[in-house]
Amino acid sequence: MTVVNLCRMESNPTPSAISDDGPCRMQPMDEDRYELREFRDSDYAAVATLQKANDPEQPLSPESLRHMFETILQGSLFRNVAVADRHTQKVVGAGALFRMPFESDAAHLWLVGGVDPAHQREGIGSHIYDSLASEARQRGATTLSCQVLESSAPGRGFLAKRGFVERRRSWRSRLEVASASWSDLPSLARSLATDRIELTTLAHEGARNLQVLTRVHGLFTEAAKDVPRDGSYTPMPFDQFRQFFFEGDNALPDAWSLAKFGDRYVAVSQAAREPARPGVLQQNFTGTLPEFRRRKIGLALKLMILQYAKLNGYDRIETSNDSLNVPMWTLNQGLGFRKVRETIQFESQLSGARSGPSPSPT
Ligand SMILES: CC(C)(COP(=O)(O)OP(=O)(O)OC[C@H]1O[C@@H](n2cnc3c(N)ncnc32)[C@H](O)[C@@H]1OP(=O)(O)O)[C@@H](O)C(=O)NCCC(=O)NCCS
Repeated sequence: MTVVNLCRMESNPTPSAISDDGPCRMQPMDEDRYELREFRDSDYAAVATLQKANDPEQPLSPESLRHMFETILQGSLFRNVAVADRHTQKVVGAGALFRMPFESDAAHLWLVGGVDPAHQREGIGSHIYDSLASEARQRGATTLSCQVLESSAPGRGFLAKRGFVERRRSWRSRLEVASASWSDLPSLARSLATDRIELTTLAHEGARNLQVLTRVHGLFTEAAKDVPRDGSYTPMPFDQFRQFFFEGDNALPDAWSLAKFGDRYVAVSQAAREPARPGVLQQNFTGTLPEFRRRKIGLALKLMILQYAKLNGYDRIETSNDSLNVPMWTLNQGLGFRKVRETIQFESQLSGARSGPSPSPT
């Protein structure tokens, strides 16, 4: 549940979104039994359990959730709450209100949330939603976005009932490593070399070398400008980039392929791991500087990631695609990625928002 559609990057851990408490909710949450409170550090394990219960195909480890909240959401998380049984202290629901990383529209906030399937239809999802929407209004937000799996009729119903309308879609796709081939890579590398483009890896360049990381961050910042998003682009600060991609259990500094023109990095493709899904390599960002696009550099770098997956024992590679990102999806389809499920981005205009200064995180 409490998972961020990271950045409309190529790979977004898919949120299971707010689980429904039924299209015709009969009762408000029993506040004698349940308490909505601020999220605690000790809640990550419970939230990982909620995520798995609502979306068994995309489990996330408590460490991954913590990493996400403490790195990429740092500075953009406005409210993070849990609903616990007052008697047992068991967490039965959770939700968060945040600004999407890489986006800068102060009046556009996002929410994620979920309720333990054993406690759905008890008004808990509505209670979380009402609390987060009220917070969003108080902070002057005028637009709320949320994602839900296309296959979740209750999730879609929950949002429709609250005035959300579909904005656009993204999807998760998969490549089975055993059936994929990178045999074109050597000839591609030779052909690129004639244009003085060299294929390399971050491991070779020096993943611990601050200068190298700074240059890779510069490339990432430039190439990511063209990722489809809502509103204007805010680059990820270097420290956040370093912490998010190179610290924690998800980090795979060896799974970064790079292209160089002279000593300038011109394209990157990278992947990470998800401890809760050890056989699946999570393909994240791929980006080529605009003036180097359509020269098969992106393709070559992704073939290097495929080679990495094979050599390191991964069964499959998964990634996500925004429906607006035709270049990336065309490239991925050519490699053999096949769509496995769709996510819908819903949006709602908030009425009664306070006008005033831009919201800032607590
Ligand atoms: C997507 C991206 C990485 C592609 O990089 P690239 O180096 O230009 O890709 P390649 O030259 O290797 O393209 C390989 C194939 O992908 C497809 N493709 C690439 N760009 C395309 C485009 N603009 N339109 C349609 N298909 C495209 C084509 O099939 C292409 O083969 P072709 O040129 O023989 O037709 C690049 O457009 C980019 O950096 N975009 C901005 C960042 C981004 O959105 N990244 C993805 C989300 S993380």
